[in-house]
Amino acid sequence: MARAWGFWTRWKLEILANYLDAFSTAASGLSERVYLDLFAGEADNIDRDTGEPLRGSAEVALDVKDPPFTRLRFIELEHAEELRQELAPKMAGRDAQVLEGNCNEIIVDVLEALRSQKWAPTFAFLDPNGPDYSWSTLVALAGFKKGSPYKVELWILFPEPMFVRFLRVDGGTVRPEDRERISAMFGTDTWVRIYEARLSRGLTPSEARGEYVNLMRWRLENVLGYRWTHTFEVRTERDKPIYHMIFATDNEAGNDIMTYLYNRAAREFPKMRLEVIDRKKGYTEQRLFEDVDRDRALYEYEPPLPPFGGPERSSANN
Ligand SMILES: C[S@@+](CC[C@H](N)C(=O)[O-])C[C@H]1O[C@@H](n2cnc3c(N)ncnc32)[C@H](O)[C@@H]1O
Repeated sequence: MARAWGFWTRWKLEILANYLDAFSTAASGLSERVYLDLFAGEADNIDRDTGEPLRGSAEVALDVKDPPFTRLRFIELEHAEELRQELAPKMAGRDAQVLEGNCNEIIVDVLEALRSQKWAPTFAFLDPNGPDYSWSTLVALAGFKKGSPYKVELWILFPEPMFVRFLRVDGGTVRPEDRERISAMFGTDTWVRIYEARLSRGLTPSEARGEYVNLMRWRLENVLGYRWTHTFEVRTERDKPIYHMIFATDNEAGNDIMTYLYNRAAREFPKMRLEVIDRKKGYTEQRLFEDVDRDRALYEYEPPLPPFGGPERSSANN
């Protein structure tokens, strides 16, 4: 059965398609371009608001044409076989593979098998349902192109509202496995300082969410050495925060393209939300959106701040 996704997934997949098109065009002078999808998902997806089919991320990457990716690896834990069957016509004759397994366990081998393409521009998409990737996976990706001026570019879903839910402040117990998953994702337990400040009411839930995102960005830039990280907050039509999309790159062109796309998203995402609300209320007339300030930048890069609560202990850095 098709999996139904909210409008924000349509938005995410549109950004992915736009970015991958620009990425492959920018890398067209080179003979190889590599796409890695660590949470490749299911074959059959629909937009739950319109009922229209949605191409999943693997299909989006396979459809990039000008020029196409030369090697594509789709890692999927639960739906690998159905994804493989569905994508078979588009994968035929190409170096594209659906790999079944836990990306955190197999990423090192997947990268090792691509070792002779290690010089090639490489983009990795990490799109889990929760805190399902570990820091060691990000370390492996960031270290793969050692010696080359650009690391693997990362576009990562960061599910910080889930942390706020897991990390209870109502006196209830926090499950040890949730603590472990969060520490595994950050590669450190310094996030606990943010949680402690929540417990003492020193931070509001929204401030705590901001600090978790900042900590991840700070570590991507300062521990893994990415030159820029960008972040965009995704909210439901009811304005509930659901995740941030974090982009990490060393490449100036990548930085410019994602800045442009996040800027456009800052303008268009609120309109998409209103359209979904209208459709739910049964309004059929199209809204007229006034864009009086079209040239004003709504999104700008700002470097992450030092982590909440002071510098990280060096032993926890990797
Ligand atoms: C949000 S969906 C991905 C959607 C997909 N990127 C798309 O746009 O079509 C997350 C997927 O990750 C898979 N998954 C969960 N944990 C995983 C892991 N550790 N390694 C690989 N896949 C995993 C789930 O089975 C699920 O299909």
